[in-house]
Amino acid sequence: MSYNNILESIDDNILTITIDRPKKLNALNRETIQELHEAFKEAKNDEEVKVIIITGSGEKAFVAGADISEFADYSPKEGKKLAADGQEKLFNYVANFPKPVIAAINGFALGGGLELAMAAHFRIAAENAKMGLPEVSLGVIPGYGGTQRLSQLVGKGRAMEMIMTAGMIDANQALQYSLVNHVVEIDQLLEFAEKIAAKIMKNSTVAVAAAIKAINANFEDGVNGFETEINEFGRSFGTEDFKEGTSAFLGKRKANFPGK
Ligand code: COA
Repeated sequence: MSYNNILESIDDNILTITIDRPKKLNALNRETIQELHEAFKEAKNDEEVKVIIITGSGEKAFVAGADISEFADYSPKEGKKLAADGQEKLFNYVANFPKPVIAAINGFALGGGLELAMAAHFRIAAENAKMGLPEVSLGVIPGYGGTQRLSQLVGKGRAMEMIMTAGMIDANQALQYSLVNHVVEIDQLLEFAEKIAAKIMKNSTVAVAAAIKAINANFEDGVNGFETEINEFGRSFGTEDFKEGTSAFLGKRKANFPGK
């Protein structure tokens, strides 16, 4: 499918989605959010896609936030709908995506940009990355899951400070905060993400999907994560991948997972 605001490329089972509005620092307007939703939805059913890397066009920005020009005159009701629709269509969709999603943060990841990176399963930052949730400087709060996911990732006190000050942290501070897993030079960013993707793809895709579900269960209200783990663990025993994985180990050979 072709889009106006995002680019897609697939190589060795890795789909790279690049948000491509560099003149607006890749800000997320409604159309971009819709296109991202469609791209993820398509990737879900595409057997060729095993891992997704999400990044921004150019070196200056991953995503500099939700597109402020689109919501500047919204009413409270419209604001609420904006957050609810965005969370459902994109941010929760990415967080619960059954295939690994890695955010490769090149430059500014602010507001909705950091929220998108936090919805991904983990993050790698380029040395020039700058991250923050500056919404209170605009008289609003993060609405795409930022108050929840930032607290989960960096802890309550740090999230409180980052959100209340509307400040930015650099890549090394983000690493220290466990907001990102790795910091690399910008020209190594995608290659580094692809290396991790390749490691993931050696494993069972069905087991990886089950692991995403079980880990996410820890952060869902009213869900017992340990129970989810027990259920997903049990379900694994019925998969072809489990039979292949265990028999390959016992037969002292490399597993060749069918992904079923
Ligand atoms: N929404 C809409 N447009 C945005 C945007 C956003 N979140 N972030 C940047 N842009 C646009 C700017 O309006 C500008 O457009 P123009 O050239 O048509 O005037 C263009 O992108 C370049 O941005 P500019 O501000 O000129 O770049 P800069 O290098 O001086 O500053 C930032 C970079 C990231 C510090 C600054 O753009 C910024 O603060 N952006 C908003 C961040 C934010 O508050 N995000 C949360 C939104 S809820």
